[in-house]
Amino acid sequence: MSQMDIERTRLRSRMVGGLRSEDGGERATLAGWVHRRRDLGGLLFVDLRDRSGLVQVSFGPEWTDAASLEVARGIGHEDVILVAGTIAVRPDGARNADMATGEVEFRAENVEILSDARTPEIPVYRAPEDELPAEELRLQHRVLDLRRFELQQNLMLRHRLVLETRNYMDRHGFIEVETPILTKATPEGARDYLVPSRVHKGEFYALPQSPQIYKQILMVAGFDRYFQIARCFRDEDLRADRQPEFTQIDVEASFVTVDDILEWIQGLMASLAAVAGIDAPLPFPRLTWNESMERYGSDRPDLRYDLEIEDWTAATADVDFGIIRSQVNAGGRVRGVRLAGGASLSRRQIEEIENRAKASGAPGLLWAKRSEEGTSGPLGKFLDPAHADAMGLAVGDLALVSAGPDRLTSPTLAVVRAAAAATAQLPIVREHAWLWVTDFPVFDEENGVLFASHHPFVMPHLDDIGLLDTDPISVRGTAYDLVYNGTEFGSGSLRMHDPELQRKVLRVLGLDDAQIEEKFGFLLSALSVGAPPHGGIALGMDRIVQRFTGSMSLRDVVAFPKTTAARALFEGAPTSVGEGELEALGLTLRSKGRTES
Ligand code: AMO
Repeated sequence: MSQMDIERTRLRSRMVGGLRSEDGGERATLAGWVHRRRDLGGLLFVDLRDRSGLVQVSFGPEWTDAASLEVARGIGHEDVILVAGTIAVRPDGARNADMATGEVEFRAENVEILSDARTPEIPVYRAPEDELPAEELRLQHRVLDLRRFELQQNLMLRHRLVLETRNYMDRHGFIEVETPILTKATPEGARDYLVPSRVHKGEFYALPQSPQIYKQILMVAGFDRYFQIARCFRDEDLRADRQPEFTQIDVEASFVTVDDILEWIQGLMASLAAVAGIDAPLPFPRLTWNESMERYGSDRPDLRYDLEIEDWTAATADVDFGIIRSQVNAGGRVRGVRLAGGASLSRRQIEEIENRAKASGAPGLLWAKRSEEGTSGPLGKFLDPAHADAMGLAVGDLALVSAGPDRLTSPTLAVVRAAAAATAQLPIVREHAWLWVTDFPVFDEENGVLFASHHPFVMPHLDDIGLLDTDPISVRGTAYDLVYNGTEFGSGSLRMHDPELQRKVLRVLGLDDAQIEEKFGFLLSALSVGAPPHGGIALGMDRIVQRFTGSMSLRDVVAFPKTTAARALFEGAPTSVGEGELEALGLTLRSKGRTES
């Protein structure tokens, strides 16, 4: 089918965005929104907008019939109009190089107003220097905001990425299977959205945090390679990179090793990146989780710039500085980043970096500058030239240092690394930094309580299974994350297909047999009827589109997003429901007074 055939409907013959000088002389019928109008007295110009772009439509007494000219004078911004006329090549001096269709204009012979728009609350047309209205206002008037060129482009790219995903997965033998939205809870570390059952009063479905258990069951059922563009729901504290409902490219396959999954997925990412015009040279580099934490303090380092954490515990072993000595004596290390030429940063700039470290929970940040005169700064004044040499600190350098246990200093130094790179404007050495981080630990702990660092189905490294009883926190998992420019795009692992091993891990997590049966009985039962070794991954579609489009927020790549307070401002959700509906569900609300008492 030709592009023109695609564009044609029974009301219009062409869309506007593709009109070019070759089309000069063609009679056409166009339809769309009035983006902008200029009335020059005799002549009237309208920029007509449809999904494909803009074209200038001109009305004038020589080519527009008198009645239509009258109608045209009355049209306003965002009215929907239909114009019939001729595509005319503009004379040389009148071409508009800023407009894709700037070689032509459309001479309207007649016009019909299909829909009269009220004055829009937020303008769709903006001059280049105009700022966007506040986001809250834009979300309230989402229908108008969605007309914005950038949002239309974002959603069109999203469509093409989803399409490419389906094609790629199909080419590689994966089949798409839909899994339920009304489900039993799958733990992914957030709260569930619950849906009360009317038929079974007092019982609730959970919306899926991910299709994790279902995709594992599909492997046991023999589907071998599954994928799904899957909607997931998580009731968690929202940030710019999180929405309460979001979309995963969810993948699972049988009889695989980690390498199988990583190769398929980096191939998928290269295909998606190609659609977006982004570089993704294969294979993606890999770092183990331990290495990543050691060198970057983070499990999702931004490798667009080169800056690594260094261990200066030995170099500062005889530095007589109380903070350092007490931290090292307590088993901590002295680590930091060295900014070559960073001594030129002002005290204020260093304070900004320190403030960001503090905002992330660090008690403070030590620093040392080296100049011809010696070293200075809160740490620098305790250093002699031999220390500075041992630290590799050259004249003109700045060291930003944190002393203490790794579990505190690593996150601090990750923030310091990012803040220092921004403040010192470190050069971008790779514009598109792809990375696999592998071998995540299976467990994490907070206040002595063990929890699954990813989810409780991650297969431990075979070598570490013995540690499950003795030292679970050291057990490495077969888990991996895909990182792009410091954003976690996806996460996955091999799974336990032996029900006894799965049961054991759940026990290590503190569940008793009754809880295991209640929560995971259906998975364990499935694993007991012949389960193949399997593994997979889920990629965050919204995040991929956000980063590929350079958008500031996930809200710019989702048609109808929620605010950070989990509200939908346009349609107005959530809402309260009437007594009757609650009663039908067997629910009563505790009045505010009663909750507080
Ligand atoms: P995980 O919980 O890491 O893994 O999620 C996978 C990817 O989904 C995206 N993501 C989100 N995107 C937007 N808003 C959110 N609230 C949100 N939460 C997660 C991220 C993340 O990397 N079942 C496992 C995967 C597996 O083991 O196969 C899972 O869901 O990009």
